Amino acid sequence: MIPLPDFPWDSLAATKQRASSHADAAIDGPAGRGIVDLSVGTPVDPTPDVVRAALADASDAHGYPLTSGTADLREAVAQWFAGRRGVPDVDPAGVLPTIGSKELVAWLPLLLGLGAGDVVGFPRVAYPTYDVGARLAGATPLPIDALTSLGPPTSATTPKLLWLNTPGNPTGKVLGVEHLAKVVAWARRHGVVVASDECYAELDWREREPGSTEPPTTTSILDPRVTGGSHEGLLCVYSLSKQSNLAGYRAAFVAGDPALVGRLLEVRKHAGMMMPWPVQRAVLAALGDVAHVEEQKARYAARRAALRPAIERFGLRVDDSEAGLYLWATAGEDGRATVERLADRGILVAPGDFYGPAGRRHVRVALTATDERVAAAVRRLV
Ligand SMILES: Cc1ncc(COP(=O)(O)O)c(C=O)c1O
Repeated sequence: MIPLPDFPWDSLAATKQRASSHADAAIDGPAGRGIVDLSVGTPVDPTPDVVRAALADASDAHGYPLTSGTADLREAVAQWFAGRRGVPDVDPAGVLPTIGSKELVAWLPLLLGLGAGDVVGFPRVAYPTYDVGARLAGATPLPIDALTSLGPPTSATTPKLLWLNTPGNPTGKVLGVEHLAKVVAWARRHGVVVASDECYAELDWREREPGSTEPPTTTSILDPRVTGGSHEGLLCVYSLSKQSNLAGYRAAFVAGDPALVGRLLEVRKHAGMMMPWPVQRAVLAALGDVAHVEEQKARYAARRAALRPAIERFGLRVDDSEAGLYLWATAGEDGRATVERLADRGILVAPGDFYGPAGRRHVRVALTATDERVAAAVRRLV
């Protein structure tokens, strides 16, 4: 058996139960009752009509879909990088649809041929699946604060694969061009593959200067200012789950170095890891429609604007959280104590220790609740 960590959400079951039985003394009716669940980042708003229609139109799917995705889908991903991410040079041969991005995160080390003795690096406070992916391959997971913490490169400390996550989950931290360029230069010097998980890129809350020529989204690892014009050794992992309310479709892709993507394609063809045809058509439709993404971003912006001052009034300090679907907050105490104090008010959040021991004094507050539940949380936090 591969030694996997305990599934962290199981440890919240009793607290969830307590939050669920909450009833506000001052408010009658359903608004005052029940849990406000800000723990899991699962979208709650409807899948856009334009995407649902594309899925329905493709429901006659009698033949096997292409593992590589159709040429128009790969071209649409390249166009999306050009239009939304400031990356004009994605080669459609370096694009591959994935069945959501969690599966790619979990399997990438294995798909790249890593195994015993190989190191997979990832941020010290991070989405847990980077660690799980290293373990599934039999490789060594290595949480990293900064490249300087690795010391002089040796095979025991230098990762073969380095994960970045920008904007970060749970911290909402965004990596700038300079930082990314430094990582890429270092990785190239040491033959390290860099995979950047960017699934919150469309949900960047930082103000743009008027007249800014920056792309409207978080800088990508594939940005020419980062790469110097070559995608060699680089992969960008992206998902439509959050920006398009498609978590149930399992719709994502990876793009970058055509040689690396070609290797992934080869294994995935043998292993049957193909995006279903109706989902491929839905992704094509979603990538061609910016309006629904902006509409969704505005919904989250309003929820964030309501929740942030409310949790600050409750006594938490919000750190980073420049982008993405979470507020990363601390009361300067053990995060589990904060979770319990919020559960007393019928609000469930995730303890920061889910994302590594370095997160233990924080909690993660998700923006993924309906306007009605967010309003209930704000009332409960006065
Ligand atoms: C950082 C990060 N990567 C990947 C995923 C997986 O997304 P999906 O599998 O829905 O594409 C998530 C989901 O929350 C995430 O936060």
